[in-house]
Parts: sequence; structure tokens; C-alpha cells
Amino acid sequence: MVTLADLHAVLDDVPVISRHKAELLYGFVADKEFSDCLELGVAHGKSAMYIAGALHERGRGTVTAVDRTYALKRSPNIEDLTEKLGLDAHVRLELEPRSYTWFLQRMLEQPEPPRYDFCFIDGGHTWDLDGFAFLLVDRLLRPGGWVLFDDLDWKLSDSPSLADEPWVRELPAHERETAQVRKVWELLVTASPRYGNESERGGWGFAQKLADDELGLRGAGRLGLVHMNRFRDRVERKVGALRSRLRT
Ligand SMILES: C[S@@+](CC[C@H](N)C(=O)[O-])C[C@H]1O[C@@H](n2cnc3c(N)ncnc32)[C@H](O)[C@@H]1O
Repeated sequence: MVTLADLHAVLDDVPVISRHKAELLYGFVADKEFSDCLELGVAHGKSAMYIAGALHERGRGTVTAVDRTYALKRSPNIEDLTEKLGLDAHVRLELEPRSYTWFLQRMLEQPEPPRYDFCFIDGGHTWDLDGFAFLLVDRLLRPGGWVLFDDLDWKLSDSPSLADEPWVRELPAHERETAQVRKVWELLVTASPRYGNESERGGWGFAQKLADDELGLRGAGRLGLVHMNRFRDRVERKVGALRSRLRT
């Protein structure tokens, strides 16, 4: 049996997630009784170990952990940690040459794509990458399933390891200075009528993909609002066009 104390003993000195966040993640996975978990962005495998540990305590479930091939060059790497903790039965590692969006593509094109109860998105933290990744994950997430975003307020310009990288300096200032995960969170997740029960804790954003019978008033209300706003925009455009024609 691998306990939370065993996880701490092996993982306390491993980057990236803090002990406090690790406990939050462990408790969340254990509490929601997930079976099929997905993690995008693994690094050394620390957060994946806490997810796997919570699944192990329950006696079933797998975390599919996806990163780039070079994740195995880290020391320790996810394979070392999985073996040390004896969590092999609960971890499936998927390595991609370039991006987890291609892993998601492969899953989507399977005759019977896998379905997940939970996805922890903790990868590139950019609008293009994680906005698209979320839209793909949404196709694989069961109704009632949850997404968790790391670092809602992280910016490239604030990152000690990335801010001075040539590829970052070449970006337009607004891309460097925008909290891009928050844009995904606000524009794609919380604005969607399909998602609800959102909460933020310590820079993390949790949201649930509502089951059809839960969409109810909240979903209908939001959908109504979206349609009303589109209608208002169309009317405003027409009135604007009419005004400029009257002026000429
Ligand atoms: C913040 S670290 C993950 C930390 C880990 N979840 C933890 O808390 O222990 C981000 C990881 O995302 C990976 N990553 C970034 N962009 C990626 C992409 N497009 N495809 C696959 N992995 C990516 C990086 O290689 C890095 O290992």
C-alpha cells in the first residue's frame, strides 16, 4: 500500500508541484473517485505520482501521462518514480516528439476513442497550445468529468527560465505579457454553457463538464445569453451600416 506519507517521502525534493498543491490534487482525485485520468505536461512525473497514488488508494484507475520524448532525460524521470513507488499498474506514459495535441489527435481518430474523467492541463501554458488542447480534451471528457488548469496567471514575461529566451523575446509584447491560461479559462471554459462548478484555488482553475441533465437553467441561461449577445451584435452592425448610409 502506497500512502500519502510514502508519496511525500519520495517526492518532496522533486520539482515541480509543491507539497501543498500535491495534497490538493491527491485529495481531489480521491474525493471524486475518478478512474480514467489524463495529464498533459508531466516533467519529472511528480503530479502524475500523486494522481496515481490517489487511484492506488481506491484500488483502481489509470493516469495517462503525456509529455515530450525528452521528459525521460530528466533525473529522476517518471519511469524512475513509478518504479520506486510501485505504481506501475496506475500509470501509462505517452511520449510525443513534439506535442500532446498530436497524442490527442491519435486518440480522437481511434474507432473508439478513450474517455476520461479528469484532465490536468499543466503543459505549455500558451493560448494556441492549451486553448486547442482544451478543445480536444473536451471531446474525450465524459459528461460529469473535470478539467484542472495550472497557473492561470502565469505569463511568459514573468518566467525566470523563459523570459530571455530568443523565441520569447521575438513574440509581440502582448503575448509575452498576457496570462494566456487565464484567457483559455475565461473565454473557452467558464464562458461555455457546457462547463460549470468552476472554482479557483491558488492559481488553479477547476471546472466540470456538465452532464446533460445538469445543464438545466445554468446552461440554458448561458446559451440564451450567448444568442442574445449575437443578436445584439447583429442589430448594432445593421444600425451602424444604416446610419453611415444615411450620412452619405
Ligand atoms: C510545468 S511542467 C509539468 C509539471 C508537472 N505536471 C508537475 O507538476 O510535476 C510542464 C511540462 O509540459 C511539457 N510540455 C510543454 N509543452 C508541451 C507540448 N506541446 N507537448 C507535450 N508536452 C509539453 C514540458 O515538457 C514540461 O515537462
